[in-house]
Amino acid sequence: MNAGGLASNGRQFKNPDEMWREEVGDQSKKSEWYNKGVSYWQGVEATVDGVLGGYGHVNDADIKASEAFLNALLAERFTNAGRGHHLVALDCGSGVGRVTKNLLIRYFNEVDLLEPVSHFLEAARGNLAPENLLVSDSYKAANFYCLPLQDFTPDAQRYDCIWIQWCIGHLADDDFVSFFKRAKGGLKPGGFFVLKENIARAGFVLDEEDKSVTRSDSYFKELFNQCGLHIWKMKDQKGFPDELFAVKMYALTTEIPKIVNPSKTRRQSKNRPGVIK
Ligand SMILES: C[S@@+](CC[C@H](N)C(=O)[O-])C[C@H]1O[C@@H](n2cnc3c(N)ncnc32)[C@H](O)[C@@H]1O
Repeated sequence: MNAGGLASNGRQFKNPDEMWREEVGDQSKKSEWYNKGVSYWQGVEATVDGVLGGYGHVNDADIKASEAFLNALLAERFTNAGRGHHLVALDCGSGVGRVTKNLLIRYFNEVDLLEPVSHFLEAARGNLAPENLLVSDSYKAANFYCLPLQDFTPDAQRYDCIWIQWCIGHLADDDFVSFFKRAKGGLKPGGFFVLKENIARAGFVLDEEDKSVTRSDSYFKELFNQCGLHIWKMKDQKGFPDELFAVKMYALTTEIPKIVNPSKTRRQSKNRPGVIK
């Protein structure tokens, strides 16, 4: 990636290498980067509004779009949309368990949560206690890991879906790539990642306050390539306030996607405007 970037304090960078050298140049700087990220969230109240930076009202639109995306994925990748399978998901950077409670727990029999900020994880534990859930007892939050992504290695082939929303910006590029490489081993055959993230218009934007980076779509695609991951499906989030970053959902797989329905593609192409000869 050779595009430049901008920091919240106005500092401009020629490219990501220059920014990462300054921010996480050596091991002690890297620890400082991660500590500052976690400290920022330690000072935030453990509520949906807190983890969404005061934008708690986007929760419904976020979950609705995520649910449509997840339903399409389950239908494409599992026979009978996953019904009859024992499905397991991991919610990464889960905060107070918002995504699990509103979405994942209705589709996955077990959901594990991974979150480095202990007061968020404790709130998630309460929010996801069986008496606070509107699902049958064959759906439950199973494990609560108080760890950051860069230190986590999943159990081999445990997950059908690893959901990573609004937290990957905390990881430096090298840790991003090594996280996904390790996490691939945590997917069951046919399993997939969903990455839902803010997208910069170009290059990247560094947030000095919470130590996170918002990457562009092409920056993400370059990193997916380094991880050996393929985009199975992607979709733009609609209906968020204009002042927010654009948000995209990427479904990522270890295998190269095939054309799902070639006959449909052929049929559709007949309906394209023809050239008048
Ligand atoms: C914007 S909140 C999103 C929470 C949740 N994913 C959601 O959508 O409701 C960002 C979350 O990332 C977590 N986080 C910060 N650094 C992290 C890291 N290195 N690894 C994993 N999560 C991290 C924060 O503690 C916080 O819970």
